[in-house]
Amino acid sequence: MANVSITGFGDNLTINGVRLGDLTPAQHEIIEKEKGGNNYSPLENVVVSHVKDSSTLIARKPNPDDISSYIEEELIDGLCCYSAVNQGQLNQTIVDAVVSHLSEEKLPTVPRSIRHKYMAAFLMAATGVTGMDRVVPKVAGVEAPELMFKLSRRWGYRVKGIPKDEAIVVAAKGNFHGRSMTAVSLSDDPDAYEDFGPKVPGIELVEYNNIEALRSLFEEKGDRIASYLVEPIQGEAGVIVPDEDYWPQVAALCKEYNILLALDEVQTGFGRTGANFAHQLSGVKPDLMGCGKAAGGGVLPVSFVAGRNDVIGVLTPGSEGSTFGGYPLGAVVATYAIKVLVDDRLADKARERGDQLIGRFNGMKERFPDKVKSVRGKGLLTAFEMHDAPALDGHHVSVALLEKGVYAKETHHSTVRVAPALTISADQIDRIADAVESVIETL
Ligand SMILES: Cc1ncc(COP(=O)(O)O)c(C=O)c1O
Repeated sequence: MANVSITGFGDNLTINGVRLGDLTPAQHEIIEKEKGGNNYSPLENVVVSHVKDSSTLIARKPNPDDISSYIEEELIDGLCCYSAVNQGQLNQTIVDAVVSHLSEEKLPTVPRSIRHKYMAAFLMAATGVTGMDRVVPKVAGVEAPELMFKLSRRWGYRVKGIPKDEAIVVAAKGNFHGRSMTAVSLSDDPDAYEDFGPKVPGIELVEYNNIEALRSLFEEKGDRIASYLVEPIQGEAGVIVPDEDYWPQVAALCKEYNILLALDEVQTGFGRTGANFAHQLSGVKPDLMGCGKAAGGGVLPVSFVAGRNDVIGVLTPGSEGSTFGGYPLGAVVATYAIKVLVDDRLADKARERGDQLIGRFNGMKERFPDKVKSVRGKGLLTAFEMHDAPALDGHHVSVALLEKGVYAKETHHSTVRVAPALTISADQIDRIADAVESVIETL
């Protein structure tokens, strides 16, 4: 007999007699800790209920006068789900497309073993916006680097002529490509890989933004290296932006050694850095590119790999696929996510608002040079790093920002990343910057 009864919607959604709208932040935490995987440490005492507009969350916090209830407050969303919501929460074009697709077009789900008409739309839109020959749809962000890894190896054997099972994929130290077994094998962060071994073999790590290190690795092992799989800007590492001349030099080296440049643009794509895709900022063209996050317009998980004809051309039936990769609703959402990126000039908006935010952070660094060590970013992928001192604690800053109605989150001990929706207003950027500055002042 099923041990569950589910009724109602929204706050009236009731599971086994427990009504969602009655739960306090503390009760949410208990349920998550008791029944979840404990693989996250979210900010405490705050639960998001819904969104108010494209950059404003409505969050529940403990009621200081009554511990059995909560209050609701607005939060400016300074993270937009780690760049999954570049188009803004509930983007009207995308929501309208989803609603009309389900209610009028009526084609939610069919498998890839039968053609559906929206695949053609998605493929034309995605090859058009990326300027790539072919595109393979996937679902979660991590599946993009995962597929680029597979493509690299198969291309290495079948096209480059690397001896069987000897292919090497080079990745950068400090990388983040997700949480699959391949992604954590690429990682040099023990939290990500410890006790999940043995790691996937055939991986070499090289220092990021160090062209000489890459050159000497290519010189030593280039005949067995299939690809350099790397983020154009390292997001999770704390918004690490390489030198201006790094990417042109990397692209030239890859060409010289017949090594694929496979860029993970899951976080940097879709306008985030002030160009539709970050590699366009330095005028290089990768052989493969993985996208995710905002490819799903902030409403669905959608990812894809775009690439050169001869690289994606190594795929054969049975070698790759997934039930929901490119299913009709996903294909429609991705198509409209691209439409909004282009029609609403999101990259230009990221540049304008990014200049504003980075300008404010630079002002803060001048005002508090003993606290703020560096300001980094491109477009609206920004971060500031504090000096290494116990009082200058990124988690403390995130918690204090929450008090001031801003959601942003530290990466590592002393870096705070701010990457709001690209639709954010100039006024909201100023409110984020004001809040950050007033928190830094108190440290
Ligand atoms: C560069 C990069 N690649 C891959 C991923 C994984 O995406 P997902 O968490 O959707 O699987 C992320 C997520 O932050 C990312 O930043």
